[in-house]
Amino acid sequence: MTTATATEAANLRLGDIAPDFTADTTAGKLEFHKWLGDSWAVFFSHPKDFTPVCTTELGEAARRSADFKKRNVKVLALSVDSSESHNKWKGDIEETQKCAVDFPIVGDESKQVANLYGMIHPKALDSFTVRTVFIIDPNKKIRLTMTYPASTGRNFDEILRVIDALQLTDGYKVATPVNWKDGQDVIIPPAIQDPEELKKNYPKGFKTIKPYLRVTPQPNK
Ligand code: BEZ
Repeated sequence: MTTATATEAANLRLGDIAPDFTADTTAGKLEFHKWLGDSWAVFFSHPKDFTPVCTTELGEAARRSADFKKRNVKVLALSVDSSESHNKWKGDIEETQKCAVDFPIVGDESKQVANLYGMIHPKALDSFTVRTVFIIDPNKKIRLTMTYPASTGRNFDEILRVIDALQLTDGYKVATPVNWKDGQDVIIPPAIQDPEELKKNYPKGFKTIKPYLRVTPQPNK
């Protein structure tokens, strides 16, 4: 069951509602929006089970379980193999990567979900899913997408860093500069010029480097 057409999915953009679906997973039947509840989600696809790069990526996602939980993020993986195949492969991941895979993996042999999310890029990888990442917020909105080729493993430090930035900028009127990490100074949006508003929003003060480039300590630290 899906609630978006393939054409809509091909055009998924930041701010769109992540399409709902029901699918078989390693943890049984999953209704995506219901499963999300009030959490954020990292929904990521990998090309194929029993392959080396994917094994390290799923291992890393599992090892970072506490980091995701701390940020109220649920993890969901997908490839176009079956859930039975995923479950067999999980043993290898746990053995080689020394971790427990505690998140569901969607079995998508029909490619229904992969097509819904535009995870198949036929000119890059024939009929398999590429390495896409969707970060989805509790309102079910797509907040970030990344697409990597099969030969390049993803960086989970970056995925967690972006979640920190999204959660921070949702709560405060700030933006994050290049290579920002949690705890570092942040940027005041140029639109905020009113002295009273500046005083109220940035009680720790700020430094003006250029009229359009002002930095302030991270407000929630
Ligand atoms: C891998 O995960 O190692 C992989 C998967 C598909 C194509 C190439 C590499």
